[in-house]
Amino acid sequence: MTEDFQGKVAFVTGAASGLGFATAGAFAEAGANVALIDLDKDDVEDAAGRIGGATLAIACDVSDEASVEKAVARTISEFGRLDFAFNNAGVMVDRAETANASTDDFDRTIAVNLRGVWLCMKYQLQEMTRQGAGAIVNCSSMGGEVGGPGLSAYHASKHGVLGLTKTAGLEYAAKNIRVNAVLPGVFDTSMNDSLEEEQPEMLEQIKDEVPIGRLGKPEEVASAVLFLCGSGASMIIGHGLAVDGGFLAR
Ligand SMILES: NC(=O)c1ccc[n+]([C@@H]2O[C@H](COP(=O)([O-])OP(=O)(O)OC[C@H]3O[C@@H](n4cnc5c(N)ncnc54)[C@H](O)[C@@H]3O)[C@@H](O)[C@H]2O)c1
Repeated sequence: MTEDFQGKVAFVTGAASGLGFATAGAFAEAGANVALIDLDKDDVEDAAGRIGGATLAIACDVSDEASVEKAVARTISEFGRLDFAFNNAGVMVDRAETANASTDDFDRTIAVNLRGVWLCMKYQLQEMTRQGAGAIVNCSSMGGEVGGPGLSAYHASKHGVLGLTKTAGLEYAAKNIRVNAVLPGVFDTSMNDSLEEEQPEMLEQIKDEVPIGRLGKPEEVASAVLFLCGSGASMIIGHGLAVDGGFLAR
């Protein structure tokens, strides 16, 4: 059974598609007011429209500090508070071994996946500290625990998200704000479209390596995020929860 989040406010980045869209929808279904954050205005408005209810669509680049500060402020001015955040926006660039990888790709990956999470937490935590309560879930990856040939910047960014999560978890534990992370395995979202198109055999191999024998569904991350935000997770702090069909247990 999902907890009732009536009267609560959730802020979800990367909400126009995939894991973010499913999680924004799950928060709305649980009764929360939801701010959907994504890069493109039309895409994020379309996503908010498909969810319906008390949603707010905000176009924002999470790697840009002014843009993040404004998005958090707008959420608070519209809905009056901020209870939950899922800092999920992320990018994956073309695969290349470290010696051949593009420096621009490295910088962009770190800017969105790591700096973006840090910037969002910075402004969310200011409000949650004023309120004296809150819960944040950051999106790492199973790649936050292991290396990934050809994906050095991505895996480094996801390891970094766990460092940010543990540190903020410690900093805010006594202030009634819990910071945790999810570590998704391989999910059926647009992030894996290029793999499906260009290297379908690699996707098949990945599926074979996942103990559960299939890709995850975005709703399976959403339910983990809502659990971590809910009262049932009151003692869980600085934790990285694998949502990976058993991949990291091997
Ligand atoms: N799909 C997987 O298998 C998988 C596995 C592990 C972790 N993840 C992580 O889950 C998160 C969501 O990925 P997804 O699979 O839903 O992919 P997705 O591509 O469907 O969604 C990512 C969303 O983030 C948005 N975004 C990208 N850059 C942004 C920016 N600078 N500012 C605001 N929004 C931005 C995109 O527009 C997109 O809507 C990512 O952090 C990803 O690394 C995904």
